[in-house]
Amino acid sequence: MSHQLLILPGDGIGPEIVAEAVKIIDLIIKEGADIQYEYGVLGGSAYEKYGHPYPEETQKQSQSADAVLLGAVGHPKYDQLERSLRPERGLLAIRKDLNLFANLRPAILYSELVNASTLKKEFVDNLDILIVRELTGDIYFGEPRGIHVNENGEEEGINTMRYNVSEIKRIAHVAFQAAQKRNKKLCSVDKANVLETTELWRRIFTEVGQEYPEVELSHMYVDNAAMQLVRAPKQFDVIATGNIFGDILSDLASMLTGSIGMLPSASLNETGKGLYEPSHGSAPDIAGQNKANPLATILSLAMLFRYSLNDEKTAHRIEKAIEKVLAAGYRTGDIMETGKKQVSCIEMGDAVIEAMQGI
Ligand code: IPM
Ligand code: MG
Repeated sequence: MSHQLLILPGDGIGPEIVAEAVKIIDLIIKEGADIQYEYGVLGGSAYEKYGHPYPEETQKQSQSADAVLLGAVGHPKYDQLERSLRPERGLLAIRKDLNLFANLRPAILYSELVNASTLKKEFVDNLDILIVRELTGDIYFGEPRGIHVNENGEEEGINTMRYNVSEIKRIAHVAFQAAQKRNKKLCSVDKANVLETTELWRRIFTEVGQEYPEVELSHMYVDNAAMQLVRAPKQFDVIATGNIFGDILSDLASMLTGSIGMLPSASLNETGKGLYEPSHGSAPDIAGQNKANPLATILSLAMLFRYSLNDEKTAHRIEKAIEKVLAAGYRTGDIMETGKKQVSCIEMGDAVIEAMQGI
């Protein structure tokens, strides 16, 4: 079956890291896979070209693609723009437009990188957590929102945290099914002691849980979850949470693994169509310097093969190649340790390609 991919390099280090993933797509095509791809723009690069961070052109391309690979969006030079034109809005818009409600963020510690973690080895070795973050609801999208002048003539900012039952149910099913395929432990994170939205979240998770008796469901308040993630991260298997808590906890979890430069993500809709992007940002401070770590993007490509193209073999092959490259001592600056070989973004990509030939 022929697959159509859309590649959105984005801003900052986006184009550099995506270029390394595209080399792998080219290799897979050369080996005979029926995949086509085209490029598009999102975020600041889209604003430059079309005056909007998620222009109609990109919308059309995304809608007809089977899967989208994204680098990263954002640059401080756009901070002065009206909010609706800023790069991040492009990202939120494509997530919403494609209904990508299920964001999977695995935090896996590669044994080779155990010393790159800021936590002691015994707390993080063999760490393998999956964060399932709801991505199209919550305070990110809730109305009313905005900054207005209130009745006392004072400026006031408003955002609204809201979830309805169907939104909670569908993410709960994704989380339970993910847990079923792993160690069958699901921790739902909320703030049900204070926020009604998440009181409902807790109730619905408990109800949906009855359909998955083999999965052990627990509930945790988000403040405690943040603490537990640094205190004893290995107690977790799958963590399910809403959009804002998931944003924060996934950055936290990423650092347990040594570098946010290693963390991929998949954002899926109901039919398995997905947007794949590294969990890190556009790192404008190192953009254009051939220094960035392309591995999170390459791992995101592996997730693309797994979830949108149903090609577990290629997904696994890419992941194995990364393990091999790390075992051979190749390190970008963010994961560098004494005694290892520091390489550039391009050299890291080439090393992965080379490792793939043998697998
Ligand atoms: C993420 C990012 C985005 C988010 C930003 C760039 C809008 O932090 O994907 O985690 O908050 O979702
Ligand atoms: Mg984030």
